[in-house]
Amino acid sequence: MTKPAIQLQGINKRFGAVHANKDIDLAVMPGTIHGIVGENGAGKSTLMSILYGFYQADSGTIEMDGKPVTIKDSQDAISQGIGMVHQHFMLVETFTVLENIMLGAEGHGLLNVAMQNVSSALKKIENEYGLKVDSDAIVGELPVGIQQRVEILKALYRGARILILDEPTGVLTPQEIEQFFGILNT
Ligand SMILES: Nc1ncnc2c1ncn2[C@@H]1O[C@H](COP(=O)(O)OP(=O)(O)OP(=O)(O)O)[C@@H](O)[C@H]1O
Ligand SMILES: [Mg+2]
Repeated sequence: MTKPAIQLQGINKRFGAVHANKDIDLAVMPGTIHGIVGENGAGKSTLMSILYGFYQADSGTIEMDGKPVTIKDSQDAISQGIGMVHQHFMLVETFTVLENIMLGAEGHGLLNVAMQNVSSALKKIENEYGLKVDSDAIVGELPVGIQQRVEILKALYRGARILILDEPTGVLTPQEIEQFFGILNT
């Protein structure tokens, strides 16, 4: 039987007097898309931040593909194949698309060689997911919908198999929302 790609069980998280997550269970099967719905302050971002290693749960367990995991920080989440696109993007507006995708994932060695490698890896991901972006464009000059694409590409480039999107449609126009759902379904 297929194991959930992600299984959260009995997750609790308190911030002082606020019990932000109370005994949360969530199972996500491979190849599926889940929407988590709740009013402001319901604890959605907190739960996703726990999965992304930004917060540690007070109690509860996380399994990936049926195996218990600990996610000690966001770097750890990325290395285990979890990517997150935050509601407010984490892009450097004055950098190009390519520079933003490389940032923090340069590795060692010559920068121009690294840039060529990223560039060709990016082309592959773009073709596979139909995520077209001009990699030489300055991020701050791009519409928000395209900036979001850059964030998604950045996560995929880092090897994300699990993609967490925090309120991804909040910043988009109705037309961009349609395109965004198209990308998710690819
Ligand atoms: N770092 C923090 N320190 C203290 N309290 C926090 C912290 N992060 C979240 N909270 C509180 O925890 C609760 C859950 O917040 P969270 O941001 O997870 O909700 P949400 O469902 O994502 O809400 P929204 O729809 O507004 O994004 C809220 O009461 C919030 O004020
Ligand atoms: Mg939130």
